[in-house]
Amino acid sequence: MASFSFNLISIRWLLLLPLLHAVAIDALASRQLLCHDDESSALLQFKESFHSNLSACIDSSAYPPKTASWKLEGADKDCCSWDGVECDNDTGHVNGLDLSSSCLYGSMVSNSSLLRLVQLQRLNLADNDFNFSQIPSEFSRLSRLTYLNLSNSYFSGNIPSMFSDLSKLTSLDLSNNHKLHLRSLKGLVQNLTNLEDLHLDHVQIFSPVPEILSNLSGLTTLYLIDNGFYGEFPVGIFKLPKLKDLRVNYNKDLIGSLPEFYSSSPLKIIGLWESGFSGELPASIGNLDSLNQLWIGNSNFSGSIPPSIDFRPYIQQATSITQNYTTIHLGLFGRKQHAPRRNSIIDL
Ligand SMILES: *[C@@H]1O[C@H](CO)[C@@H](O)[C@H](O)[C@H]1NC(C)=O
Ligand SMILES: *[C@@H]1O[C@H](CO)[C@@H](O)[C@H](O)[C@H]1NC(C)=O
Ligand SMILES: *[C@@H]1O[C@H](CO)[C@@H](O)[C@H](O)[C@H]1NC(C)=O
Ligand SMILES: *[C@@H]1O[C@H](CO)[C@@H](O)[C@H](O)[C@H]1NC(C)=O
Ligand SMILES: *[C@@H]1O[C@H](CO)[C@@H](O)[C@H](O)[C@H]1NC(C)=O
Ligand SMILES: *[C@@H]1O[C@H](CO)[C@@H](O)[C@H](O)[C@H]1NC(C)=O
Ligand SMILES: *[C@@H]1O[C@H](CO)[C@@H](O)[C@H](O)[C@H]1NC(C)=O
Repeated sequence: MASFSFNLISIRWLLLLPLLHAVAIDALASRQLLCHDDESSALLQFKESFHSNLSACIDSSAYPPKTASWKLEGADKDCCSWDGVECDNDTGHVNGLDLSSSCLYGSMVSNSSLLRLVQLQRLNLADNDFNFSQIPSEFSRLSRLTYLNLSNSYFSGNIPSMFSDLSKLTSLDLSNNHKLHLRSLKGLVQNLTNLEDLHLDHVQIFSPVPEILSNLSGLTTLYLIDNGFYGEFPVGIFKLPKLKDLRVNYNKDLIGSLPEFYSSSPLKIIGLWESGFSGELPASIGNLDSLNQLWIGNSNFSGSIPPSIDFRPYIQQATSITQNYTTIHLGLFGRKQHAPRRNSIIDL
């Protein structure tokens, strides 16, 4: 009798085993999704350290902000499911945070709980209002960062020199922070050899453009608009093998001239508007098969337009264009590829 019921039980157990196994795997899988407690509390503390009501929004359409979904109760307590938060699928560590346009208003402190998210690889805090606080040099502890975007976010003071420790960065955007200063662009980039996108528009730099930028062979976009640059622009930058988009507009004291171009160049956009660039447009500019925007107005170019610029008939939009054969102020050449080739007369 006893052995009979024993057998029955073990058979039941045997039947249950696959089910139990499945439950156990489920539990493991969902536990893996749950983010680490220290990271969710760091995120909540970060959220709490800012105002994020409607009046804190730069752009009221961003309201309610992403952080409104951040709660420790209910079905959404897993921080990996919070808006703007990305986790590593294997480890559950927070490795990405996109709080761009999230109505964050307040000062960034040097012991911000954000700095506890040491696994972060991507951080976007663009379009918030950090109340002209400084970028803490402690940011350099986030040594895994490959993407850092602090554009248009009301930071001021010096960009910490410790930023050069973030040697894994492929993308750095500090643009549109008018009160931010950079002491040494060379010091910043000499260690950031993986950079693909460097955007520093409207940051106060006031130095020559360092030669070392022409060594950043992975650069695809370089925005150095209105930085107060002076001196000679390193011509090697035009020859960077992957550079598609180069903008140095609004640097009146930056001098330079255009080099010979080769057809292998991927340059699509060249912005030299209101710079101190001078000389003639080289005929080889016609070799730039990908070029669809060339902004050279309000600078000091001279000579005539080379016939090789066969996209002249496709001028889409032209601002302050005058041509008297010695001085050219060209606006934007647009849509070389898409416009029909026609022999039109351009009213320059
Ligand atoms: C909303 O934020 C502003 C600052 O932007 C603050 O002065 C105000 O007290 C906040 N209001 C509420 C209800 O939290
Ligand atoms: C992680 O998981 C999410 C959701 O299942 C998926 O969308 C994403 O592609 C995964 N990421 C990686 C790197 O596997
Ligand atoms: C903004 O900065 C000012 C000056 O440092 C400070 O007095 C004020 O408390 C800050 N406001 C917030 C919301 O952090
Ligand atoms: C940062 O330090 C200040 C003063 O030392 C303290 O009051 C505050 O709680 C700290 N903040 C964090 C996020 O650790
Ligand atoms: C930084 O973020 C802003 C706002 O989200 C975006 O427009 C910009 O393209 C980003 N910059 C880079 C380099 O990705
Ligand atoms: C370059 O980055 C490494 C860390 O990746 C750091 O140890 C080193 O001090 C940095 N060098 C400079 C010149 O900033
Ligand atoms: C750029 O790279 C070249 C060749 O690798 C090297 O000789 C030169 O010193 C580098 N320039 C700078 C400014 O580091």
